[in-house]
Amino acid sequence: MGRDANTLLELEQLRVYYNLRHGIVKAVDGISFTMKEKETIGLVGESGCGKSTLGLALMKILPSTVTMMGRLHFDGEDIISKSEKEMQSIRGSKITMIFQDPMTSLNPVMKVKDHFIEMIRTHIPKISEEEAMSMAAKALTAVGISESRLNEYPFEFSGGMRQRVMIALGLVLNPKLVIADEPTTSLDVNVQAQIIELIKELKRKFNMSMLLITHDLGVVAELADRIIVMYAGHIMEISDAIELYESPKHPYTKALLHSIPNTIIEDMDLSYIPGSPPNLISPPKGCRFAPRCDKAMKICREKEPPLFDVNGAKVKCWLYGDKE
Ligand SMILES: Nc1ncnc2c1ncn2[C@@H]1O[C@H](COP(=O)(O)OP(=O)(O)O)[C@@H](O)[C@H]1O
Ligand SMILES: [Mg+2]
Repeated sequence: MGRDANTLLELEQLRVYYNLRHGIVKAVDGISFTMKEKETIGLVGESGCGKSTLGLALMKILPSTVTMMGRLHFDGEDIISKSEKEMQSIRGSKITMIFQDPMTSLNPVMKVKDHFIEMIRTHIPKISEEEAMSMAAKALTAVGISESRLNEYPFEFSGGMRQRVMIALGLVLNPKLVIADEPTTSLDVNVQAQIIELIKELKRKFNMSMLLITHDLGVVAELADRIIVMYAGHIMEISDAIELYESPKHPYTKALLHSIPNTIIEDMDLSYIPGSPPNLISPPKGCRFAPRCDKAMKICREKEPPLFDVNGAKVKCWLYGDKE
């Protein structure tokens, strides 16, 4: 995989395993892709497929029981070999993560302004309070909140406003990569739409790259340049976003698309995918989706498919390969 000048992130056969007493959970099991500067990638898949683990691995915020293998380069630097101290200077300044539940990520006894000052001072220790406050005010205004609210506590904000504060905190140091893990999942539908609009606007303004993690293919439709569909620790399909929505290739991608709630036809029956994702301690041999796939052939249960090139997309499915 060649690295050209504007490659920001490079993963090759990345594996992230949780070593538990009763077995090894292979949450991320051989994932390869690259991300360009300013690119937005949507990472989608059902709950439990390893999306958050992948996001956390990029920042190395994982429990000590975790083993990481393979190659993970960010901005030309080898993340896996970095010490915790080195990671502390990268987190927050070069890579930030926005989580699903802004209430648990904000400290209830700290004013909003103190969250900003703490974040800024971790990376720029000698900055004056005045300068830090001016950076905070700028970030907060960018997410549509008046700077006068810096003096308030998190509980004084609504759920949507708290998520805006979290986004502002993530952006205050102008990171190159923002990982947003289900940023709209805990919000109601109207607020969700507002946050999606906000993210769109901020992407234009701040020019950062973004990994947008969600279980809902509907959320990333307007935001992502490319989509990665993940299932049971594997990538099933990588494709340009428009291509993926217009012409999904993997049977799993098709099933996911069919399960997007349609807001116009409210009472339309959602087709759901029968069965449930496999146990990641002992996943099925062959294609991990085969047990739930209505197109599964004999080979699918026996041999793991590679990612085949199909019209510019990559698809991990024997329907697209020579089955030798
Ligand atoms: N801290 C942890 N310790 C052990 N197993 C974990 C931990 N976090 C996640 N897992 C397991 O790893 C797999 C992937 O989980 P996760 O990355 O949270 O998926 P997603 O974000 O797609 O819902 C699941 O089987 C989950 O149970
Ligand atoms: Mg998750």
